[in-house]
Amino acid sequence: ALSRLVLGIETSCDETGAAVVDEAGEILGESLCSQKDVHLRTGGIIPTVAQQLHRENIERVVREALERSGVDPGRLSAVATTVKPGLALSLGVGLEFSRRFVRQHGKPFIPIHHMEAHALTIRMLQPVAFPFLVLLVSGGHSLLAVARGVDDFLLLGHTLDEAPGDTLDKVARRLSLTKHPQCSELSGGQAIELLAKLGDRRRFKFTTPMGQTHDCCFSFAGLRNQVTMTILKKEAEEGVKQGTLLSCVNDIAAATQHTVACHLAKRAHRAILFCKANGLLPSGSPTLVLSGGVASNQYIRKALSIITETTGLQLLCPPAKFCTDNGVMIAWNGVERLREGRGVLPPHVDVSYEPK
Ligand code: KG4
Ligand code: ZN
Repeated sequence: ALSRLVLGIETSCDETGAAVVDEAGEILGESLCSQKDVHLRTGGIIPTVAQQLHRENIERVVREALERSGVDPGRLSAVATTVKPGLALSLGVGLEFSRRFVRQHGKPFIPIHHMEAHALTIRMLQPVAFPFLVLLVSGGHSLLAVARGVDDFLLLGHTLDEAPGDTLDKVARRLSLTKHPQCSELSGGQAIELLAKLGDRRRFKFTTPMGQTHDCCFSFAGLRNQVTMTILKKEAEEGVKQGTLLSCVNDIAAATQHTVACHLAKRAHRAILFCKANGLLPSGSPTLVLSGGVASNQYIRKALSIITETTGLQLLCPPAKFCTDNGVMIAWNGVERLREGRGVLPPHVDVSYEPK
């Protein structure tokens, strides 16, 4: 029998992505159009701008993915599209496009939960059996969950305020890192990782968030506040204008990155102990999957690897291109759901439906 093929479409944030993936996890064709450079210039995502850019690019991105795969739309088994969570205006573009596409070609539609897709991506790259622990950290999310099945997640913790990537981006902006010659093309998180390598993390001491809280939730707003206060103080001491490069940027970057890493590692450690105490992970060699844009940070990976080594877990991290948003992960989530027959809407059903 011919392998089933799924077209995946992603527009939840600032990447317009599409891909055709088969049941074996082979990527037949993909296309990705990032808006990151536009948003870097405006100092953050403006939803209406993101929507406009998705509208301008969605047709081409899907066409490219299909052309590169050499697959005729008629050959597709289903179309999978992110329906939540994300920016409503951005999500709407992918959903509207998909609604027309599945109607035109008479295809089943699979609504995708963006976080489920992030969590399952690793299974496209290598065999990882359920259940496994997953830590997702990006500019938009921060969560710890046990993946028990394709559509069965036990949420252990989430951020109470902002996501770690968002915090790093805001700190980077406050430090004017885009003015730094080495950092002009980098995201905030990447800039901080780069400068932190040159800094001394001990020169500034930030408190690791939620030291007294007995759960697996995250908080980053307090840390951002601590960092901002430090920057203001240093600017006053050095007598420089706000937003002017400070002599100690590298040290602040290093201390910020270190504190984020400590917080993530401590929460992951709690989650591992909780899972062990409650028999939520296999006794053999359980796995922690680390993904999302922030997971490409080597210092943070190292911190988590110390935790997994001491607790006997295996740490798996998809390569950077699969950690960030793309159409491939949505298509693969579609494959997983198609195989299990879960949440697949037959042709000509109203696709405004959202999965639980
Ligand atoms: O997954 P992603 O591309 O988009 C979403 O937010 O969904 O993640 C982007 C975030 C940004 O906040 C960026 O600053 C952060 O991931 N990031 C990093 C690194 N690379 C990207 N944070 C820390 N270290 C990095 N190397
Ligand atoms: Zn994402």
